[in-house]
Amino acid sequence: MAQDKVKQKKPFERLRTVIEEKRNLQNPLIEILRQAQEIFGYLPVEVQEFISREMNIPVSKIYGVVTFYNFFTMKPRGKYTINVCLGTACFVKGAARIVALLEDILEIKMGETTPDKLFTLSAVRCVGACSLAPVFVIGDDTFGRLESRSQIMEIVQRFKEAN
Ligand code: FES
Repeated sequence: MAQDKVKQKKPFERLRTVIEEKRNLQNPLIEILRQAQEIFGYLPVEVQEFISREMNIPVSKIYGVVTFYNFFTMKPRGKYTINVCLGTACFVKGAARIVALLEDILEIKMGETTPDKLFTLSAVRCVGACSLAPVFVIGDDTFGRLESRSQIMEIVQRFKEAN
């Protein structure tokens, strides 16, 4: 039981260390929020309140930043985030169709997470793989020249089976 408490505390302790390290940067908030999202996977209200207290910044300002940038999320994410590139090259080559196919296969909308918490569907700008357009990225893997439903299903299935 006591150990559970230590475990629960750990992410906030890590966040406190991040805040101590970054607080003297010129604009520390975005970097601290970015690292907080890495630690927690998302930015729930408790995390925003913690940062507010530690940095003496109104929580309304933190909320404003979190909701302004697409990169930040207040909802928990799935184990794998499928980042579909909506940059120009990918868009021209049919990224909208890839989004529609993924929404159909996963039965969720853009920005949502599957009920089994395995996949979150997200949009990103150019990921620097334009020659492979249209692409999506899962973790460190970039999947390009996406065309067919079966090709996308096969990729999704591969990640499902890895669990
Ligand atoms: S526009 Fe998609 S990788 Fe560049």
